[in-house]
Amino acid sequence: MSGDKQKKLTIFDLQEKVDRGEKIFQVTAVDFPSAQLVDRSGVDCILIGDSLGMTALGYPSTVPVSMDEMVHHAKAISRAASRSILVGDLPLGAYHSSHSEAITNAIRMVKEGGADVVKIEGGKEFAATAKAVVDAGIPVMAHIGLTPQLISKLGGFRVQGKSAEAGAQLVADALALEAAGCFAIVLEAIPDRVATLITEKLRIPTIGIGAGPGCDGQNLVLHDMVGLFDRFTPKFAKKYADCWSLITKALGEFQDEVKNGQFPMQEHSFSMRDEDYAAFLESISKK
Ligand code: KIV
Repeated sequence: MSGDKQKKLTIFDLQEKVDRGEKIFQVTAVDFPSAQLVDRSGVDCILIGDSLGMTALGYPSTVPVSMDEMVHHAKAISRAASRSILVGDLPLGAYHSSHSEAITNAIRMVKEGGADVVKIEGGKEFAATAKAVVDAGIPVMAHIGLTPQLISKLGGFRVQGKSAEAGAQLVADALALEAAGCFAIVLEAIPDRVATLITEKLRIPTIGIGAGPGCDGQNLVLHDMVGLFDRFTPKFAKKYADCWSLITKALGEFQDEVKNGQFPMQEHSFSMRDEDYAAFLESISKK
């Protein structure tokens, strides 16, 4: 946990951390309480990730997530976070048609959603889009490797960059996105040695998720970390707590205690003075 919780971090703090040889922490949150927990834990960045489509909205993938849904969640998250940098994911369809659509939605994410910066998925084919958003004044975090918005093109949630050619493509993508002005880049589900090499080649920070320990920082999705998503846990997601079991146990105990008359007890109930209760009974009997 880091020191001063009140000081709002900026993208320059991230670069300084990396320059000092310190690691960056980024965690995906979905709503007000999860963002409060993450912000207070001392992480550097809260990702308002479109994975919330799966963890909070029950979609089978991030593909159906809309810009309106992202803004709705971003508003709740930004009300909770005072310290961390808020990274707002632009969902599929929010930046794919034109640069002007990308700029409009990036501004919406910042202005309405309260994000500090935006994240877009894709390799060097999205470098010009990233540059357009950066030139409009909104910092951009890039995201390459496994890019879940393009799941059909990738053929599923698969590790990327495993062949020599695909690894070299990732290096070219990362360099193009850095040249476009992105301030950081997420490397998702790529071989650790490829991620380390990209990290060495780039000046901007790399934030890995399933990309090994050689990245400048690490990202996890809160729901995966604390066991609040029961459909599947990706190989790269370490489960630090099992909240699903805790909550299931609590729900079972609640029902047992209501059945057994153990809940609610006096301390959960509200009382009425004897004279008021007597007057109440009298007024009822008159009716
Ligand atoms: O949406 C998300 O949480 C993400 C991370 C997996 C990087 O994009």
